Amino acid sequence: MTTISASSDTQPLSLEQQLTQLETRFASDLAASPSTEALEALRVAYLGRSGELTLVRRAIGSLAPAEKPAAGKRINDCATKLEELLTQRLAAFEQAALMAELEQRIDVTFPGASPALGSLHPLRRTTDAITGYFERSGFAVLTGPEIETEYYNFDALNIPPDHPAREGFDSFYLDGGLVLRTHTSPMQIRAIEAHGTPIALVVPGRVYRRDSLDARHSFMFHQVEGLLVAPGVHLGHLKAALTGMCRALFGPEQRVRFRPSFFPFTEPSAEVDTTCPGCGGDGCSTCSGTGWIEIGGAGMVHPNVLREVGCSPEKYSGWAFGVGVERIAMVRHGIDDIRSFYENERDFLEQLA
Ligand code: DAH
Repeated sequence: MTTISASSDTQPLSLEQQLTQLETRFASDLAASPSTEALEALRVAYLGRSGELTLVRRAIGSLAPAEKPAAGKRINDCATKLEELLTQRLAAFEQAALMAELEQRIDVTFPGASPALGSLHPLRRTTDAITGYFERSGFAVLTGPEIETEYYNFDALNIPPDHPAREGFDSFYLDGGLVLRTHTSPMQIRAIEAHGTPIALVVPGRVYRRDSLDARHSFMFHQVEGLLVAPGVHLGHLKAALTGMCRALFGPEQRVRFRPSFFPFTEPSAEVDTTCPGCGGDGCSTCSGTGWIEIGGAGMVHPNVLREVGCSPEKYSGWAFGVGVERIAMVRHGIDDIRSFYENERDFLEQLA
């Protein structure tokens, strides 16, 4: 009987016996391997350079030449069998891992990942809150050109070329009598020209001034203009309208006060304040201790302005206002730097959404 020994056993086993034992041990080791790492260790222990099967193979050298081919074939078959068993088991582990992952993926009770949706910019939302209030009272919402003629931006609004108010506006002038509009008031003229009187409208939009950028100033900002022209309109209507607007923006306790002021296109003119929403009027850092926040200018439309658009000041009267959107949005959201509106920082925008 042909015998072969990988070690110095006293009772040498036949090749067949050795391989059968090896296969049996391998089968139970395989069954006890809990992971792909353990399978790899098993591969090394049996098929590696000094693995058990490799040692058996080395011993072939001592066989008679006639026996070598059969013995070699038997060992190769054994090696193939072990490889196959390892591969099967590895595939089973991978399949199990995949199933576990899939099971998690289709867990319908798992909270969904919400898609990153955009939201309206805080300036847009404040603008909408203002125009929305007036729309609900039957006012039209109009927009107009940001590049204006000096006529609409100044002359038609009772600001002649030599008037100091022109200088006060610090305008960006363009060639050919054009200017980046310094306020939304030119739309008072354009709207009455286009639609006649009586008229009730609000105009949201960008305006431009030669201011340098800091925490409180910007060379571009937003206003909403308001205009009501009809027979019998008086200052009380203006105050009621602005009070209603401030209550829609800040809450039902809001009050509005007028401080006498001057604008060439209104007579009388007023600076408009509303009770500080930060402190309810007691005084805080938002309102510099005054209890009031300035939100814009207003007044009764100047007779010269009405005449300019062919409307008789004897028949008609009107009020107008212009409020600053950034100013209002800053107070609404407690923002102390106007530049935050223009930087498009997602964290900032999402916080206010
Ligand atoms: N246009 C003015 C400005 O930008 C604000 C203003 C004041 C608008 C009085 C008006 C008004 O309509 O009646 O400073």
